[in-house]
Amino acid sequence: MHKRIIIANLKAYLAPHDEQTWLQNIPRTNHADDRLVVLPSSLSIPHTRELLSNTTTFFGSQSCGAYGRGAYTGQIVAEDLAAYGCTYCLVGHSEQRTLNNNIEYIGDQLAQVLKAGMRPILCIGYGMRKEDGISIASLLCDEMLAIMTRAFSHEVHPTPELILAYEPHWAIGTGLTPDSEHIIHIADKLHAAAQQLLPSNRTFVVYGGSVNSHNCKELIDLPSIDGLLIGKASTNGQELQNIINLLG
Ligand code: PGA
Repeated sequence: MHKRIIIANLKAYLAPHDEQTWLQNIPRTNHADDRLVVLPSSLSIPHTRELLSNTTTFFGSQSCGAYGRGAYTGQIVAEDLAAYGCTYCLVGHSEQRTLNNNIEYIGDQLAQVLKAGMRPILCIGYGMRKEDGISIASLLCDEMLAIMTRAFSHEVHPTPELILAYEPHWAIGTGLTPDSEHIIHIADKLHAAAQQLLPSNRTFVVYGGSVNSHNCKELIDLPSIDGLLIGKASTNGQELQNIINLLG
């Protein structure tokens, strides 16, 4: 079995005490090859580092600033996230893009993640509606390439591991998921586009958007899908453990 990546995006769902309890009872993967990545709220990151220090679970940030150190009120510097032990950083999540959906900005964020030596989880799929039909794959690949081209204009080195999260905007938090053929088609195209741009990189394509214990097994078994990005359902630790168990 190839390595599968399960990402728990806790968003801003849990109050500090609840998030701490969640972390103290961290779910476990059933295969040595599977990787669990937790994205806690920003304020919990130092605490997460302590609590996960003797585990095999990775953690990361849900976002980061697009610029380095300087006069950027409210921004979190990517380098600091790396210093606090974050291995991963999510970039371009649709809930962030409602605040700033500028490809250049997302490319600059990606550059900061790479400069800090973290591994990016780049979300692709914002704003795509079901009725966009046949051309969605090329729109998404173009978007991914535009973001990466912008990031590489900062002369950063590519990461050895790139995670692309295909998350159709309309599937996030709605209980709706695309049909299997659609997900396979998009995942294949994203793999091919990433391979062309970064031939020596390992690319994982994960699916996100309303993943739960009813659909997780079907989704993880799709060819070309290397993992799942789970929001709401992951905020209940027991439910996340159920999902992991169901993956087989
Ligand atoms: P959801 O969120 O699982 O609650 O749909 C997924 C995500 O936003 O990454």
